[in-house]
Amino acid sequence: MWDKKAKKKIGDRVLRPESLMMSYGYRPEWSEWAVKAPIFATSTFVFESAQAGKDFFAKAYGLVESTPDEEMGLIYSRLNNPSLEILEDRLTLWDGAEASAVFESGMAAISTTALSYLRPGDLVVISEPCYGGTEYLFHEILPQFDIQVECFRSSEGVEALNRTLDVEDRRERLRMIYVETPSNPTNDLVDIQGCARVARECSSEDRRVLLAVDNTFLGPVFSQPLKHGADLVIYSLTKYVGGHSDLIAGAVLGPSDLMDQIKGTRTFLGNMAGPFTGFLLMRSLETLKLRMEAEARGAMVLADFLADHPKVKTVSYLGHLKEGDPRHDIFKRQCTGPGSMIAFEVKGGEEEAFRFLNALKLIKLAVSLGGTESLAEHPGAMTHSDIPLEDQEKIGITPAMCRISVGVEDPQDLVADVSQALDHI
Ligand SMILES: Cc1ncc(COP(=O)(O)O)c(C=O)c1O
Repeated sequence: MWDKKAKKKIGDRVLRPESLMMSYGYRPEWSEWAVKAPIFATSTFVFESAQAGKDFFAKAYGLVESTPDEEMGLIYSRLNNPSLEILEDRLTLWDGAEASAVFESGMAAISTTALSYLRPGDLVVISEPCYGGTEYLFHEILPQFDIQVECFRSSEGVEALNRTLDVEDRRERLRMIYVETPSNPTNDLVDIQGCARVARECSSEDRRVLLAVDNTFLGPVFSQPLKHGADLVIYSLTKYVGGHSDLIAGAVLGPSDLMDQIKGTRTFLGNMAGPFTGFLLMRSLETLKLRMEAEARGAMVLADFLADHPKVKTVSYLGHLKEGDPRHDIFKRQCTGPGSMIAFEVKGGEEEAFRFLNALKLIKLAVSLGGTESLAEHPGAMTHSDIPLEDQEKIGITPAMCRISVGVEDPQDLVADVSQALDHI
């Protein structure tokens, strides 16, 4: 078998993920020496013999023991497909994960994680705010399956998580802590190590409490939660990893034992990504670091401009955290860059925010984020509109708030656009 690990090194030097994104997990001799892995547009795979088919199924369905490095034979594209397997191998390199699973969307990754590990009577505690779709899944869908969902304010830290747990028998029923850091849209940070400690404290011999972290805003380039004690890391690959606003996908990464269960659930929920999405994501991974770094440089320029503008009330941007702010400590510990998401409040309310958004010329008025083009939106009226108004305010989403995802345009062109749009207020 091809030894993948050998390919990660030259002599003693362990190669950086960005150096491996063009080649890792694929050998040109498999496909007529094509430098790029082709799109394996096939629903099913031919078995060499009936016995080979039987052996592949036995392994896929866990009927026989397999060694950690053993590859699963190719069966059917709802279970596995080379375009997705190569992608999953490459994704693991950034986070230092043992395994990864790719899905048809970020929401599919989140819901499959929840359905893999939560059972009636269990408690899951989530940080707030989270992406609106995640909030809806946890607060509206999971309780229908008798799963109790409680929350804590990200900005109030691990003390708030502990307060939420210090009620009745919640610690005994806790099964998962679900955290989004930085949070969408407010850029709050949650202390991953602190949450991991709580998860370990609440675990018992027969009930391991899992810490799942949505790393969409900074990862995998500027943040790797598994290195800080998270059990599972989740992505909307639609955002930075896809990076071109031309696909929808998601991923979960973690240790092989946890990922086996998630991949098993994925097989039967049937929400595996397709081979063309896999191909697009591999194209994207080649430039991931370049894009995220360029976008972060642009965001710094734009955030500085916004912070000094007389029509702007507040700016929430990780690059502005100051020494002494508890969030700054978390930032230094678990992030290597501030990323390129900016939330800010204009002076006034929804009307003033809408006037600004309607006047943008270069920046597109659209939801989503992490693409090469800058996008602006109004969280309260758009991505987070399914959260009741009074709850929005409690978690820091106000009618005057706009969110910008900074792309790769010239930063001064973005400043010019934002400047003229603010003049319309
Ligand atoms: C932080 C975060 N997580 C998850 C999702 C859901 O991802 P998807 O739209 O790919 O299903 C989003 C979408 O905006 C998001 O911002």
